[in-house]
Amino acid sequence: MSDRGLQHAQRLATLLVGGIRGTGFYPAGHPASLQPFTEMAMAVAALHREGGELRIAVVDGVLSVGEHLFFAPTAPLAELCRLFEQKGILGLTLKQGVIPADLMALAALLAQQEGGAVELRDGLKAAAVVTIEVKEEEPLSQTYNEAVSAIGEIFEEIGNGRIPNSRRMLTVVSSLASCAVKEPATLLGLSMIKDYDNYTFQHSVNVGVLAMALAASMKHSPHEVEMAGMAGFLHDVGKTAINVQILNKPGKLSSDEFVLMKKHPAYGADIVRRMEGVPEQVAEAVLGHHIRFDRTGYPDWAPFGELAGIVAVTDSYDAATTLRAYQLPMQPKQAVDRLRSLSGSALDPAIVEQFLALTGRFPTGSVVRLDSNEIAVVVTPSGDESGAAVVKVIMDCLGRTLPEVEVRSLLQSGDRIVDLVDPLIRGIDVARYL
Ligand SMILES: [Fe+2]
Ligand SMILES: [Fe+2]
Repeated sequence: MSDRGLQHAQRLATLLVGGIRGTGFYPAGHPASLQPFTEMAMAVAALHREGGELRIAVVDGVLSVGEHLFFAPTAPLAELCRLFEQKGILGLTLKQGVIPADLMALAALLAQQEGGAVELRDGLKAAAVVTIEVKEEEPLSQTYNEAVSAIGEIFEEIGNGRIPNSRRMLTVVSSLASCAVKEPATLLGLSMIKDYDNYTFQHSVNVGVLAMALAASMKHSPHEVEMAGMAGFLHDVGKTAINVQILNKPGKLSSDEFVLMKKHPAYGADIVRRMEGVPEQVAEAVLGHHIRFDRTGYPDWAPFGELAGIVAVTDSYDAATTLRAYQLPMQPKQAVDRLRSLSGSALDPAIVEQFLALTGRFPTGSVVRLDSNEIAVVVTPSGDESGAAVVKVIMDCLGRTLPEVEVRSLLQSGDRIVDLVDPLIRGIDVARYL
């Protein structure tokens, strides 16, 4: 890594921002319009000599050009960071042989108001640019799958009598928490993904995701949002010590079985306390997640803090919306009504209110009928008249499944939600649409 290299890196990024800003300033083909890109191509060539391909990326808000990191960026470099984040671009790879015209096409595409990483990649392809590759941000669903696998591993390790390694979980929690802090509702759709074969840890992941969305909507700090996620992910780890027959038993437990079942919060808290990097508050929330707001739950000596209250609300909600051996799932809307009925007894009313404000009248995943008689799935809830901000229309007004779903903003279209539809009766797999 050389000082010259650092200068080239800085110059390259600065010229790129200049090029983006200057797009449209000169008529196409004007010699002056190509000049900064010629300079850029020279900087790229110089950096290529430091090693193979050149990557421009933003990781955790820090811009890197090749191996050069800019922790204290100049104004144009900070602008480039913002642009990458706004468009969901994780990085660009500039390959050997990049020519000024390629860079000019890149700047013109980046200058467009609309569109993200996918549009940029398509645009480069359409302009026949083969020397620039776009890496987009990991889709949220991928992070969710990583969460499922990390939590699955934790349950497995505990099952094998080991104290689980928390590293993978902590990484996933921090990336989901940063999404939640930006826009809490984005995580809601994830919790509608249900895998009926792995109930316990899938449920744990969903409670974690919902708890993060809820904590973020309550304007908690990123660290607190992360703790809510951990508490949700780990709230039921104590169940690994309970016989599977009892766990999956349809109907009521016998009093002996219930005595055993009631031990899972304390078992869980013991395990969580021994996991590296997991704060004590998380163990306390695990211990208190069944004590209930009116303190009539178990174990009777458990504390009831806000974090336990957040887990209790999201736990009730997810348990109600999941299909199990002994229970048909409720529609999100009915699950919300159930929360309302538990408010003040099992659940903290203030937290329930927050959750209801977050999910709206028709939460994400609700299957609904529009006043046009079309059937749609709610993607982004909203508290206003229409009933939702964004839906995916999946059936036409005659109940025929559309070959391609239509994403529709109800605010723009003026449609309203008039009714809930039961997805089971209609044979609709809601998770497919989220
Ligand atoms: Fe539990
Ligand atoms: Fe639970």
